[in-house]
Amino acid sequence: MKLLACTWALWVLALCSVQAAKDICNAKPKDLPLEPMCIYRSPDSETHPTEKPEKIPAGTNPRVWELSKANSRFALSFFKQLAEGKSNDENIFLSPISISTAFAMTKLGACNTTLEQLMKVFQFDTIKEKTSDQVHFFFAKLNCRLYRKKHETTELISANRLFGDKSMLFNESYQHISEMVYGAKLLPLDFKGKPEVSRMTINEWIANKTENRIKDTLPEGSIDSNTILVLVNTIYFKGQWKHKFDKQNVMNSDFHVSETHKCQVSIMYQERKFQYAKINDDKVKILELPYNGADITMVLILPFEGTTLSEVVENMNLKKLEGWLQAMKETTVFVQLPRFRIEDNFSLKEQLMKMGLDHLFSPENASLPGIVANDGPNLYISNAYHKAFLEVNEEGSEAAAATAVVATGRSLNIYRENFVADRPFLLLIRESSINALIFTGRVANPCGSS
Ligand SMILES: *[C@@H]1O[C@H](CO)[C@@H](O)[C@H](O)[C@H]1NC(C)=O
Ligand SMILES: *[C@@H]1O[C@H](CO)[C@@H](O)[C@H](O)[C@H]1NC(C)=O
Ligand SMILES: *[C@@H]1O[C@H](CO)[C@@H](O)[C@H](O)[C@H]1NC(C)=O
Ligand SMILES: *[C@@H]1O[C@H](CO)[C@@H](O)[C@H](O)[C@H]1NC(C)=O
Ligand SMILES: *[C@@H]1O[C@H](CO)[C@@H](O)[C@H](O)[C@H]1NC(C)=O
Repeated sequence: MKLLACTWALWVLALCSVQAAKDICNAKPKDLPLEPMCIYRSPDSETHPTEKPEKIPAGTNPRVWELSKANSRFALSFFKQLAEGKSNDENIFLSPISISTAFAMTKLGACNTTLEQLMKVFQFDTIKEKTSDQVHFFFAKLNCRLYRKKHETTELISANRLFGDKSMLFNESYQHISEMVYGAKLLPLDFKGKPEVSRMTINEWIANKTENRIKDTLPEGSIDSNTILVLVNTIYFKGQWKHKFDKQNVMNSDFHVSETHKCQVSIMYQERKFQYAKINDDKVKILELPYNGADITMVLILPFEGTTLSEVVENMNLKKLEGWLQAMKETTVFVQLPRFRIEDNFSLKEQLMKMGLDHLFSPENASLPGIVANDGPNLYISNAYHKAFLEVNEEGSEAAAATAVVATGRSLNIYRENFVADRPFLLLIRESSINALIFTGRVANPCGSS
């Protein structure tokens, strides 16, 4: 009798979750029982009556818009942090939204200062919603905007998954929320008995979700018999240029890595109308190359000659970037862009700790009671890994990332502008209707990669 009741209860639960998962994109907050163990309440934000209200794109939930902005703020400050630690001639490439997503999933189980720091470092506390639990709801809505668009030649796909030790009992409501909101099912693995095999299983899952572009995300030694849970986000993008470069229009040319160092690259070129702006005050040119369909574009930010990319990055913030994007106008531009392929990988722990996320990584101070059921072992995050890939060629671009918590134009057009990316530049792959930064990168040395 008792067994029957339980089976019945499980059925109802399963039905409920299927129902909820199906409608997440149409659901209202009250339809979703989002009850993480702890809730952080942001202090009342000061109102700036003098500030004029922002124009939010039609059909966009204001909180989703704010979450996208919060993610962009995190993206820029993380990028700056990373750039400070690298020499100017090294490439950088990452998917900030992948990092934010993986840590938002972690946040579901966090309490106390650990939760507060996650809210602050990822800028979730800038959303005008009093409580931290709602962030997850708006994340689900943002994902609906970004990943549900279907287009024949442009793919943007994200996947989330939890890998948990099979001997551990995980909190049901934690699993339920993470599956409902992030589509992250829990897969049991034998971390205790077979840590190395488990590591390879996770790396293979990531490779599978990224068309084999991202391999070996978790390095040797990152998983051991004390590992309890690995939270993973992957993102894969493949887009064809709306205006492809002609394979004939490629030449070998110098790329000026720095004033004293140059190298040879294949530069593709074309001339046509693009969204473009020349910002004299900030000494940058900004150009947007659209992909087919789906509102996804690549934004290139090139300093004027004589200005270094690091000066531009130092003075850049979200407001400035938004201003540059808004200043773009349809202009005839002669575009020269190298053909290249870059890969980047790094541990997130050190960077995030520097930004103020130290409790989460500290065995003494971390508070993640919401993940394991019934007062199981105390958890902390021992490390987090990020790996990203980008290829740009005549046809379009392919980019992928994973986060695991453990041209010579012959036509002479006098009205045209020149955009010659033959020195280090920044690039962003964004969803333009909501301005979500999906990938960000610095191309400082593209030579020998095409
Ligand atoms: C699971 O987490 C919820 C909060 O999300 C909490 O109320 C519940 O007591 C936890 N269950 C167990 C078995 O630890
Ligand atoms: C952390 O949160 C738990 C659960 O909400 C609470 O019992 C505990 O007192 C908190 N610890 C600190 C140091 O605030
Ligand atoms: C990923 O796995 C699925 C199912 O096993 C398979 O059909 C697909 O070809 C795999 N993709 C890659 C890139 O290996
Ligand atoms: C990550 O990059 C470093 C160099 O920055 C390299 O030595 C290492 O092998 C890479 N790790 C993986 C897993 O690709
Ligand atoms: C733990 O938190 C306390 C109080 O905030 C701090 O003094 C201590 O340095 C922290 N320990 C670690 C390892 O972060």
